[in-house]
Amino acid sequence: MSNRLPVDHVSGDGDDAVWRPSPGGLVAALEPIMKREDGVWIGWVGIPDAEFEPFEADGIDIRPVSLSAQDVEYYYEGFSNDTLWPLYHDVIAPPSFHREWWDAYVQVNRRFADAALEAAAPGAVVWVHDYQLQLVPKMLRDARPDLVIGFFDHIPFPAYGIYSQLPWRKQVVEGLLGADVIGFQRLADAGNFARAVRRLLGHETRGSVIEVPLGEDEGVGHRHVKTNRRGTRVRTVLAKQFPISIDAARYEELASQPEIQARAQQIREELGNPKTIMLGVDRLDYTKGIGHRLKAYGELLRDHAVDTDDITLVQVASPSRERVETYKQLRDEVELTVSRINGDYSTISHTAISYLHQGYPREEMVALYLAADVMLVTALRDGMNLVAKEYVASRIDNDGVLVLSEFTGASDELKQALLVNPHDIEGLKDAMVRAIEMPKRERARRMRALRKRVLAYDVQRWSATFFDALTHVTAEDDFGDHEIAQRPKMATDTHGQIHERGDR
Ligand code: F6P
Repeated sequence: MSNRLPVDHVSGDGDDAVWRPSPGGLVAALEPIMKREDGVWIGWVGIPDAEFEPFEADGIDIRPVSLSAQDVEYYYEGFSNDTLWPLYHDVIAPPSFHREWWDAYVQVNRRFADAALEAAAPGAVVWVHDYQLQLVPKMLRDARPDLVIGFFDHIPFPAYGIYSQLPWRKQVVEGLLGADVIGFQRLADAGNFARAVRRLLGHETRGSVIEVPLGEDEGVGHRHVKTNRRGTRVRTVLAKQFPISIDAARYEELASQPEIQARAQQIREELGNPKTIMLGVDRLDYTKGIGHRLKAYGELLRDHAVDTDDITLVQVASPSRERVETYKQLRDEVELTVSRINGDYSTISHTAISYLHQGYPREEMVALYLAADVMLVTALRDGMNLVAKEYVASRIDNDGVLVLSEFTGASDELKQALLVNPHDIEGLKDAMVRAIEMPKRERARRMRALRKRVLAYDVQRWSATFFDALTHVTAEDDFGDHEIAQRPKMATDTHGQIHERGDR
């Protein structure tokens, strides 16, 4: 279950509706499990006020949830993207707190939960994705203790000092604790969550295991129920990091196609064959640090540390959440900065920044990755940042330099990138120059190590690891010693990552 479905509506309605699979890697990752276990995917089609009957796409049973125009405004644009999103990303933009948005969030979470209850066979696995649906696990558990419930948070979980601003902080934590397993991107996110649980609810936590005390007649039929060291009956919840990844083999495969390699060459030519192409690929979001990147680049041009004849920055900024005020303002700021830099430093034959406010198919993205000498990921806060991994997976030539913000989840794994603090503009400029000037041998050494990591820890491994934690119990994570039914049959299993809009 995810806020958005893994398919995009192209045209038509009713039986004539045409759907196109979203190009996200997660669909591929979950497809085998979904098919094997007779899975159902529950989510919103992305269009307000549109009703669609359940349908099948690529062998996956899709159950659309409809949202009214007001749900979209209050639940999606409001509470999800103007309250939770900025709050969970360290208040880079100020979050808005509105009670009517919260009410809509509760109602829409209820609707999603009801759809899952209808779809789920006895003992089914329900895998809920992302911050838009944090209340669903508890709603499911209250109604159906037989279900096996997983939750994966694709975005950061903030430190308690920030999280505690949320007027509904207790309800959200309780909502999540309905799950058997709560997955986070980073160890730090899981730690922040455990702290919020201790502070708000006073529950005990032991490493990744949280003990939720049960009332006298509670816990019947629940999994993971035991009596703890103090003699209290508790339900245990596993809350730990499961860093997400990409369908790395697919990126490698695309990168090895001659047409895509030819397209990469053509991109270089069309940009005037500069010595260096730097690339940024992001959803147009204030968390991505696009302004910091442009500032650093503009200063390098101003100070003649780099020359427009030798370098071009390609910035793909895919449109996102365009009706939310903070996003409108961000677009204005970014576009003003881009045109100032272009006005000041471009020449007739060379453009300082090639700015593209569009989304592109995966093939074109891979061609861009192959064409780019330097990839700039300068997010101020990012759950993972899959672009960094896509770049690495595409560089089958073991070339290219990744400049990566230490505030991304990816930086926990991609240590051989040039790690930067994007707030430190001088440091960012130094890293850009270092990347531009890096000798080929060093580039190859770093890229080989990065590729090893990304290819070994791909999205298939991620989904299998999470699914295993959810359905098997191991002694190692101390998630054992419980009253557990045999491995359940999966009836509902979903995800929330849609690449082209997705985690960029
Ligand atoms: O992972 C973050 C996330 O919000 C996903 O839940 C979502 O599918 C994606 O980014 C794109 O955002 P949106 O669905 O709001 O366009």
